[in-house]
Amino acid sequence: MTAQARSLSSSKVVNIEDLRRMAQRRVPKSVFDYLDGGAESELTLNENCRAYRDVTFRPRGAVSVSECKLSTTVVGHDLSLPFMLAPVGYSRLMHPEGEVAAASVAGEFGTGYILSTISGHRLEDVKAATKGPAWYQLYLLGGRGAAEAALERARNAGFSALVMTVDTPVAGMRERDPRNGMKELLGGSPFAKIPFLPDILAHPGWVILFLRDGGVPKLQNIVIPGKGPMELLDVGAALSESTVTWADLKWIREHWSGPIIVKGILIGDDARRAIDEGAAAVVVSNHGGRQLDSVSSTLRALPEVVAAANGQIEVLMDGGIRRGSDIVKAICLGARAVLIGRGYAYGLAAAGKPGVRRALEILKGDVERTLRLLGCSAITALDRSFVEVPQAWESRANH
Ligand SMILES: Cc1cc2nc3c(=O)[nH]c(=O)nc-3n(C[C@H](O)[C@H](O)[C@H](O)COP(=O)(O)O)c2cc1C
Repeated sequence: MTAQARSLSSSKVVNIEDLRRMAQRRVPKSVFDYLDGGAESELTLNENCRAYRDVTFRPRGAVSVSECKLSTTVVGHDLSLPFMLAPVGYSRLMHPEGEVAAASVAGEFGTGYILSTISGHRLEDVKAATKGPAWYQLYLLGGRGAAEAALERARNAGFSALVMTVDTPVAGMRERDPRNGMKELLGGSPFAKIPFLPDILAHPGWVILFLRDGGVPKLQNIVIPGKGPMELLDVGAALSESTVTWADLKWIREHWSGPIIVKGILIGDDARRAIDEGAAAVVVSNHGGRQLDSVSSTLRALPEVVAAANGQIEVLMDGGIRRGSDIVKAICLGARAVLIGRGYAYGLAAAGKPGVRRALEILKGDVERTLRLLGCSAITALDRSFVEVPQAWESRANH
């Protein structure tokens, strides 16, 4: 057994929090905080995780579940698990294998991977790495010309659905990043980097891999006509010039014939608008608490959106999921499936591909155990009767 396999063994890494702590040790503080942090006071970030405590289970006793079915379908894709891997920008900073490793592990587990526009690896390489479905998450960075070129590449490479993220008209204020000198480290002068170098150099394992990988990656999927791939440092400014609007959805439809999933919905009205615009699904998401702080947790927002969708489109959700029981609760409240963000990215930062694999093993094991303890034999058989929610949540569902 290699040292890395030993450090990921089931006695040492029991839950996602263990992977989080490993990641904190392995990568520089600037990289860890970029992954771990949220916007402003991090109210929503914390509430996303806490909200699962408000929902309690109502198990059926004395039921023997001989076979437990974790598979489901999402916008026509067969998935072996009720969770997919969410788009996580800059994954290549966490580990050189980045998006390629995450996609490959998702495929091993028979589930889907969603590639962020802000990827250090070429979308073709990411798609080639997975046996599972791959979806492309589109920001309009670099304008419509760059987006049209990316969509054509994504279609040719075999991406089967498009995710439009609508909660990022500007980047949220993630206060840990400026404190850690993220901007200076990514693109500042050597002189500007000096105050932040001791922390970087205290993580030689990460530094060696980062330098061997060629340093800060360019964004290979945002090719600005006449200029080439966008620099990582330019993303913040470009985001605020590229707000995605409902009008863009009409234009996107002309360039993408497959399913379109709108990510970043928190209220019923927006779910109804997404239906009117022809979306195949919505993702109840607040970007993992990284955008507008003080919005409600996604679990709390879910019942209102499910009620508004009224069975016309599928509702996915993400945010704060650190255990399989969180996944099961979201599905009981009407989510078709969920997306995992930090849950697998901690594994990537902790140990590359084996770390992502361990994260998925943990979550899969949790989901199966939770179903058996609930006395339920299939993900698709979960419903509201398996959970108790606070009274106030019921009225929100009727908005
Ligand atoms: C480091 C990081 C980068 C992210 N980058 C993107 C992105 O490029 N596009 C996007 O739509 N969402 C992005 N997200 C949001 C995730 O897709 C997802 O909504 C969120 O992580 C879910 O919350 P969780 O991390 O608590 O699971 C990012 C999240 C993190 C943590």
